[in-house]
Amino acid sequence: MDPKIAKKRIQDLVKAIKRYDQAYFQEAQPLISDYEYDLLLKELEDLEERFPIYKATDSPTQHVGESLSKYFPSVAHLHPMHSLGNTYHPEEIVQFITRVEKQLESGLDLGFFCELKVDGVALSLHYLKGKLQRIVTRGDGVTGDDITANSLLLQDLPHHIELGENFPDLIEIRGEAFMRKSIFAELNKRYAREGKPLLANPRNATAGLLRTKYIDPKLGREAPLSFSPYAMLGDGLSIPTQQAVLKRLYQVGFTAFSPSALCPGLAEIEAYIAHWEANRAILPMMIDGIVIKVNSLAHQSILGSTAKHPRWAIAYKYKPDEESTVLEDVSFQVGRTGAITPVAHLKPVTLGGTQVSRASLYNAEAIKRLGLKRGDHLFVVKGGDVIPKVTHRDERYPNSSGLPITFPEHCPDCHTVLVQAPGEAVHYCPNHQSCPTQLKKKIAHAAQRDALNITSLGDKTIDLLFESGLVRSLVDCFQLEEAVLAGLPGFQAQSAANLVEGLRAAKRAPFAKVLYSLGIRYVGLTVADKLTAHFKDIEALMGASVEELLGAPEVGEKIAQSLLAYFNAPAHRVEINKLREIGFIFESEAKEAVKGPLAGRVFVVSGLFSHYTRSGIKDYISQHGGRSVSALSSHVDFLVTGEQPGPKKLVRAKELSLSIINEDDLIKMVGEPHYLKK
Ligand code: IVH
Repeated sequence: MDPKIAKKRIQDLVKAIKRYDQAYFQEAQPLISDYEYDLLLKELEDLEERFPIYKATDSPTQHVGESLSKYFPSVAHLHPMHSLGNTYHPEEIVQFITRVEKQLESGLDLGFFCELKVDGVALSLHYLKGKLQRIVTRGDGVTGDDITANSLLLQDLPHHIELGENFPDLIEIRGEAFMRKSIFAELNKRYAREGKPLLANPRNATAGLLRTKYIDPKLGREAPLSFSPYAMLGDGLSIPTQQAVLKRLYQVGFTAFSPSALCPGLAEIEAYIAHWEANRAILPMMIDGIVIKVNSLAHQSILGSTAKHPRWAIAYKYKPDEESTVLEDVSFQVGRTGAITPVAHLKPVTLGGTQVSRASLYNAEAIKRLGLKRGDHLFVVKGGDVIPKVTHRDERYPNSSGLPITFPEHCPDCHTVLVQAPGEAVHYCPNHQSCPTQLKKKIAHAAQRDALNITSLGDKTIDLLFESGLVRSLVDCFQLEEAVLAGLPGFQAQSAANLVEGLRAAKRAPFAKVLYSLGIRYVGLTVADKLTAHFKDIEALMGASVEELLGAPEVGEKIAQSLLAYFNAPAHRVEINKLREIGFIFESEAKEAVKGPLAGRVFVVSGLFSHYTRSGIKDYISQHGGRSVSALSSHVDFLVTGEQPGPKKLVRAKELSLSIINEDDLIKMVGEPHYLKK
């Protein structure tokens, strides 16, 4: 290769790999598959070996890419945490065996030990006198993050182990933290419901959870991680083999997830590789290959390590479970927040046992990188067995002469010019106030079970209401009268009554669910819960500065900025006010009283009272679950009058045919709720 070309290629590879590292480790949104990544890294390693003068000191080949997080104290590892040399080629296993046998003059009487290469996050656990002391991530291999605070995520980790007399006090156990496939699927389903960006694969989900600053104990139960141990270290440890290490670890309480095997030679290793390549679907976790280790620990220490890898082990990586198919078309979907997602329409193909005809194409950058045309052959993989993804073009076929796929410049629904936030790969339709798809999806978001739980307000009903022209927002739904609804095409008396009742019941939703239902970016249920517990009412939340927002649990820079932007928009303030007038609860204290006899009822108070002051009677109403508002409207249920009520209020209440009651009626209602019937 011409040195000039090599130099340029090395520079390009370094730049690209750094970009992919950033996306993978910092943004938890990989841009390419692990397989493609490994190929690029390998190419770079080879070029740097042939042209060492062009090797940069900060080349990605020089360090393990994982980031150190600012949230956790960093600690130096007791022994460096290396990674493994890896290969996709069976010939290199033969080379590995030959090399090992040559270096070990005494011969390899104890054979090789094969384990699954679990696709998760490497952790180092320190046990002092049998007690779990510390959990550290690999980090850059020399220093890692002390994530002991997040230990509750690792539900099956033994906190005490009894190794016995002959073991040193301080024992380090290394292994892989991972998320089971079933749990990953559940978590992503929830993320989809909450409108959060989906997690790319279980490995990313694991990394994301482990570096979360505040772990909600609930999350530990709902999305527990597992741990598969693969090594034990300690001064003067006298265990003869890798096989014996694992056996001892399983005896003291670690879970044996990974079926391993003692393999005397190449034939057995190849059989192990073939078996798990064919059967990996039945495993509870994702694996990306197998690890072949010299079984004798004495031999391992004779072989030693290079700067990066041990010489006594090698990883054989599986090619991802992927299939080639034809790209028929691409559609562009508009999400609730206006984000545009390209979706590939594929000639149906069977992947991991299911038919796949749609796959995610991520964003404009990915489409450009793949250079796609309709009719192209490409590979799809299943990332963690959930949403299939397009990875790369199938080079065995010539490029199609079909129409190129171009990312639209306008919203596919409302035709507004799309925008891209600086530094973000995603395009957005900025027409948040009137893009029909966004408006409908916002209503659907608010109506879902985890939010206001208005079951009769499903997608079809929302479409019908939209077409009728009566509804453009959630607030509009509350203006609907049963008689009008019943007359709309697609409605009947019963469905109209159900909807009105569902809407009325929704007003009782606690503050956290109301906040969540607003659909603020990055404010899922968990964050909404934390925010409402912290800020108590909407005024405090809307008035909070960035610093105050950052002081709330779960809130980082991204969420804080999103909240500020949301509350700064006058349209959102108007919407919140309207929802409050309708009777929605925007304060946490009311939570307890929601269940009271006045729950779901809206009151206006007017005049002078004998038992209570004006504000006292409002407190009385809210203590018993009711809401008091200042203005009369069709959303109000009762006008409570004292001496000298406002004459205009009386007239207006009569026009609206509201129930007009006095102080004693109100007290009776609380004591004997049948009075509530209008
Ligand atoms: S042994 C000196 N065994 O793969 C390295 N690693 O790049 C010793 N991994 O960082 C690692 N399963 O996170 C080993 N059975 C296994 C493994 C395994 C997964 C991970 C580990 C390591 C990476 C290698």
